[in-house]
Amino acid sequence: MSKYSDQDIIHSWKKNVAPWVKAVREGEIASRRLVTNQAIVEVILQHQPKSVLDLGCGEGWLVRELEQSGVTSWGVDVIPEFIAVAQQAGIGRFANIAYENLIPALGHEKFDVVVSNFSLLGKESVDHLFQQIPLFFEAKGYFIVQTLHPKFCAEEKYENGWRAGSWKGFSEKFCDPAPWYFRTLATWKTLFLEHGFAIDKIREPLNPQTQKPASVILVGEWLG
Ligand SMILES: C[S@@+](CC[C@H](N)C(=O)[O-])C[C@H]1O[C@@H](n2cnc3c(N)ncnc32)[C@H](O)[C@@H]1O
Repeated sequence: MSKYSDQDIIHSWKKNVAPWVKAVREGEIASRRLVTNQAIVEVILQHQPKSVLDLGCGEGWLVRELEQSGVTSWGVDVIPEFIAVAQQAGIGRFANIAYENLIPALGHEKFDVVVSNFSLLGKESVDHLFQQIPLFFEAKGYFIVQTLHPKFCAEEKYENGWRAGSWKGFSEKFCDPAPWYFRTLATWKTLFLEHGFAIDKIREPLNPQTQKPASVILVGEWLG
């Protein structure tokens, strides 16, 4: 039994709302500024969606960005303070919903794309989520996940399992880093395939400073 659980992730984010909002809005995270923000927006827009659901939206930057490109977007997050801050910005729709409650709370809505930007961090919550996503598609749809590149963030053994969190490189205002569940690239692919998605593409956006992937983006296609 691991000492970590999906619940620890939520406890940690509850404590780190203010420094996270500042870090995202003031561009403190270099890899986001240089690579990953633009990469996820580009991949989403390539699919020409009319509507997007952003899972674990945090303070809501991606919803605002997509709305500005004419895409009706809805962000959900388990932390009410993130949703309040996101709503204050006045663009897009937001709701305080945990992954575990998505279907009862929002299951009547349909989207062309469901996206997760660095927000699939747990074990059971993520497995459960993959079962729910197809219910948000009318027929065809895409589930787009950007996450840490397993090959380039693996400091321990390259095998699935819980990892201690770290705020290395972030401001000293952050505390109690969230643990997270590491998945190999093959496991990410299997998650999509076992839940009936075809892998439409896998992108590895390069950090121009290090010439290493800053992340991996997996696009699962649901064909109904
Ligand atoms: C690293 S942040 C990413 C936020 C946002 N996607 C972005 O790109 O800035 C991870 C987010 O996932 C959310 N999250 C974690 N577990 C969740 C759960 N079970 N249900 C809903 N949101 C969750 C956290 O509250 C946090 O906002």
